[in-house]
Amino acid sequence: MIISIIAYGLSIVFLLFVLICCFNLIFSVLSFAPWVPSRSRDLKRIFKLADLKPGQIFYDLGCGNGKVIIYAANNYKVKAIGLEISLLFYLICKIRQVLNRGKNIEFKFKNLYKENLSAADVVYLFGIPYSLNEKFSLKLKEELKPGAKIISYSFKLNGVEPKTIDKPGEKDLPIYLYEI
Ligand SMILES: C[S@@+](CC[C@H](N)C(=O)[O-])C[C@H]1O[C@@H](n2cnc3c(N)ncnc32)[C@H](O)[C@@H]1O
Repeated sequence: MIISIIAYGLSIVFLLFVLICCFNLIFSVLSFAPWVPSRSRDLKRIFKLADLKPGQIFYDLGCGNGKVIIYAANNYKVKAIGLEISLLFYLICKIRQVLNRGKNIEFKFKNLYKENLSAADVVYLFGIPYSLNEKFSLKLKEELKPGAKIISYSFKLNGVEPKTIDKPGEKDLPIYLYEI
């Protein structure tokens, strides 16, 4: 009897977890972008543009499985902060952080539009054209400090001119660099 009550309770909790994850996933698609990871082979190009210096603060807005954040923290002496709205991906990030004994890494279960980015030196993002609109560019321009960089993977931000477009070959995805 007790075992079946516990099993029933656990299945309710599991069902709730699945429902929350599904709701989160739908919200993330509508909010900024669905989960599609940046290509691992492009990380070098991304961080060449970022040109990170020790002590700087690096953000990934919508950090997915945390790949870019972990790369930043492992290869540069920076504080790397990832924001993620999907509960499932946030939990994956936290597990990766523990496995990686991630120092200088912070994952926040947070809507990226609600984060104040004034401390950031470099902001990385992989959104879809719909979300990279002028309103979003305005938020970045208003909050980021002078000299801060924005790196947008694959798609350009509307309402700002890129300083550099990195696209070495026909088959490569473009990476856009902006400077405030
Ligand atoms: C295209 S993926 C990029 C993942 C990661 N940045 C990368 O390059 O590998 C976009 C991510 O943004 C997350 N996302 C969507 N809307 C968001 C929001 N409002 N706040 C925080 N994260 C969001 C999605 O869950 C997804 O993981």
